[in-house]
Amino acid sequence: MPAIVLVGAQWGDEGKGKATDLMGSDVDYVVKFNGGNNAGHTIVIEKDGKREKYALHLLPSGILTPTCTPVIGNGVVVDLAVLFEELDGLEARGVDTSRLLVSANAHIIAPYNRVLDKVTERFLGSRKIGTTGRGIGPTYADKMARNGIRVQDLFDEKILRQKVEAALAYKNQILAKIYNRRAVEVDEVMDELLGYAERLRPMVADTSLVLEQALNEGKTVLLEAGQATLLDVDHGTYPFVTSSNATAGGACTGSGIPPTRVNTVIAILKAYSTRVGEGPFPTELEDANGEFLRKTGAEFGTTTGRPRRCGWVDTVVGRYATRINGVTDFVVTKLDVLTGLETIPVCIAYDVDGVRHDEMPVNQTDFHHAKPIYEELPGWWEDISTCRSFEELPANAQAYVLRLEELIGARVSAIGVGPGRDEIISRHSLLGA
Ligand code: GDP
Ligand code: IMO
Ligand code: MG
Repeated sequence: MPAIVLVGAQWGDEGKGKATDLMGSDVDYVVKFNGGNNAGHTIVIEKDGKREKYALHLLPSGILTPTCTPVIGNGVVVDLAVLFEELDGLEARGVDTSRLLVSANAHIIAPYNRVLDKVTERFLGSRKIGTTGRGIGPTYADKMARNGIRVQDLFDEKILRQKVEAALAYKNQILAKIYNRRAVEVDEVMDELLGYAERLRPMVADTSLVLEQALNEGKTVLLEAGQATLLDVDHGTYPFVTSSNATAGGACTGSGIPPTRVNTVIAILKAYSTRVGEGPFPTELEDANGEFLRKTGAEFGTTTGRPRRCGWVDTVVGRYATRINGVTDFVVTKLDVLTGLETIPVCIAYDVDGVRHDEMPVNQTDFHHAKPIYEELPGWWEDISTCRSFEELPANAQAYVLRLEELIGARVSAIGVGPGRDEIISRHSLLGA
C-alpha cells in the first residue's frame, strides 16, 4: 500500500489527532514526522458507554489503536522527560504502548534548549513569537547548526559527552552573558540524558528501513503532521511559525519515506479559523462572534491552555494548503460549532491596500495588511451532531461544505460534527484510490 500524509491546513488544532485516530484501525503504522511536544492533540473515545479524553503531545495519535504501530520519525524533536511521562500516563490508563518505535536519528530537546526558548521569548518582549516554550526552536536551530544531540548519541557516552561539552561551551556564553542566567553543568545534562537511555533502548530503530519494509509488505503507513501549513518554517507566516516543515514535503524528509511512495494527502480544515501565539490572522474576530467560536468550539490550547484566537474560515488559506501540500482529500472539522448562526461569512479573497488578492500574498507586509473579502452564506439551527450522512445535514450546512470544497479546490471527504470518534460524516474513503 502507498503511504498517506495527513497535515493541518491552517494554524494548527484543526483536529488532526481525531482524524488520525479515526483512521487508526485501517492503518498499520502512524508516523509523527515533525515537531515535538509543542503539539497537542485531543482525542475523545467512547469506552464502556463513557467519554474518555486523551491529550497527546509527543506520541503519534495511532498509539490509541491496538493494531497500529506508532513511530516517532527522524524529523521529530524529542523531550525524553515528556516522552516517558506520556507513556506512563497512557499505561496507567490501560493503553499498551509497547509497540512504539523511535528513530535513532531524531533529535533530543536538551534541558538547556528549554531554558533558551523561554528566555529568548522574554528577551524579545513585544516582538515575541508566542512559542510554546518547549525548546522546539533552539533544538531545530542546533540540528541545522550541526550542534544537536540525537537519540543514537545516548548509547555512546563518550560521544555524548563531547557533544554536550561542545554545545554548552557556546550555549553557556549566551545564557550567562546575554540572558544573565546560570550556566548549565555538563554533568547535569549527561546525568539527565543517560538516565533515560536504558528505557529508550528497546524502542530505538532505523525507522526509515522499518517503514520501507512495511510498505513493501503491503502495509498502510500514515504520516501525521504536528502543527500546520501556515506554521511551516518555509511556507507559513514566517517568522510567526514553528521551526519545522509541517507540510507534506516534511513528511518525506521527516520519515525517510520517498515522495514516490505517497499517493494520498489529507488536509484537516476547521470550519472556521484559530491561531495560538502571535502573527497575522486576517479573519480574526475580536468581538462577540470570536467569543462565540472560542466558547462553542472550546478553543483553549491543549498544550499551553492559552485561549485560541478565533475567526471565520479563510479559503485563501485553504487553497494555499491545497497547493503547497498537493491535497487530495480534506476533512472539514467542527462544522457543528457553526450551528445557530444567522449567516456565516467565508473569506474568499483579500483586499491588500486597495488591491484584490485571490492567492496568499508572497510578501509578509502585504499579508499583515490583508483585509478579508467575505461571501455571506446562510446558517442553520438544527443540531447536526447526530448526522452520519451528508444528506442528513440541513441544506444550508450542505451548501456551506460544497462552497468550501469549490473554493479550496479539493474534495471534502469527511466532515466532523462533534469531538467523539463516531461523530463524523464520511463521503469518500481516506485510504486513497
Ligand atoms: P490537533 O492539534 O489538530 O490534533 O487538534 P486539537 O486536538 O488541538 O484541537 C481540536 C479540538 O477539537 C479537540 O478538542 C477535539 O476533540 C475537537 N474536535 C475535533 N473534531 C471535532 C468536531 O468535528 N467537532 C467538535 N465539536 N470538536 C471537534
Ligand atoms: P498542533 O499539532 C497550534 C505555535 C505556537 C507559536 C508558534 C511557534 O496541536 O496543531 P513553537 O513552540 O513551535 O516554537 O511555537 O507555533 N504552535 C502551535 N499552534 N497548534 C500547534 O500544534 C502548535 N505548535 C506550535 O503557539 O505561535
Ligand atoms: Mg493541537
